[in-house]
Amino acid sequence: MNHHHDLHPAAPNAPIGVFDSGLGGLSVLRHARARLPDEDFLYVADSGHAPYGERSADWIRERCLELGGFLIGHGAKALLIACNTATAAAAATLRERWPQLPVIGMEPAVKPAAAATRSGTVGVLATTGTLASARFAALLDTFGRDVHVVTRSGSGLVEAVERGELDTPVTRALVESHVAPLIAEGADVIVLGCTHYPFLRPLIEQVAGPAVGVIDTGDSVARQLVRKLDAAGLRRSGHAGGERFWSSAPPAAAREVLGRLWHDDARIEALGI
Ligand code: DGL
Repeated sequence: MNHHHDLHPAAPNAPIGVFDSGLGGLSVLRHARARLPDEDFLYVADSGHAPYGERSADWIRERCLELGGFLIGHGAKALLIACNTATAAAAATLRERWPQLPVIGMEPAVKPAAAATRSGTVGVLATTGTLASARFAALLDTFGRDVHVVTRSGSGLVEAVERGELDTPVTRALVESHVAPLIAEGADVIVLGCTHYPFLRPLIEQVAGPAVGVIDTGDSVARQLVRKLDAAGLRRSGHAGGERFWSSAPPAAAREVLGRLWHDDARIEALGI
């Protein structure tokens, strides 16, 4: 496989490359689209390999180099890693491989959660890979010192979203099994530390109840993307932005779920890598 895509001098009219282990990153794309109506976005859903949460950091790094190379090959002027797990494993590697390219990553919102809690206990729902990462340990060290942080890996939730099952009895039971222990430990704020989870937010809020705050990082990541584009002089204007989607999952299934999570008429292409 070829990792040696070379970066052409970036122009503001080039698209922004976005990727995730699957369709979860659409929860971030939604915010990016709202903040940047003039931009074109390329979105790669690596659904054929989801979930990343249980894979090794080495495997994720290799795969992210391939996905980044694919997006750069399609002209991307910046990369948005719409995945906490991939950011934890591979953001540094991507920045090293493409030092000129703005690379925007994301991490669980421990800082705003620590500022918001009144009980002093914060719940973080994320993948095993994110929770086990050195980046997450550093995040707790910096922002989690004065609060009690309870973590929980949301096994099965990514798969439920990938199947487009946002409100079935099975998904509801699964959400309950992950959220109830956080509440039992006294959490009054729950951080959605995986980009698939915002699609389950209505269920999570129902299970958690009105006294518990739920924090999603999508909009702050979108604002960070805007800042990085501005700093690099790469912001596009005067254009009605569009999206182009690829997935490594079987096309029929990918199209069906994309229709549900994005737009009925959204087209998805087979990812050839
Ligand atoms: N959406 C991802 C995240 O934000 C990864 C989910 C997975 O594939 O495990 O962590």
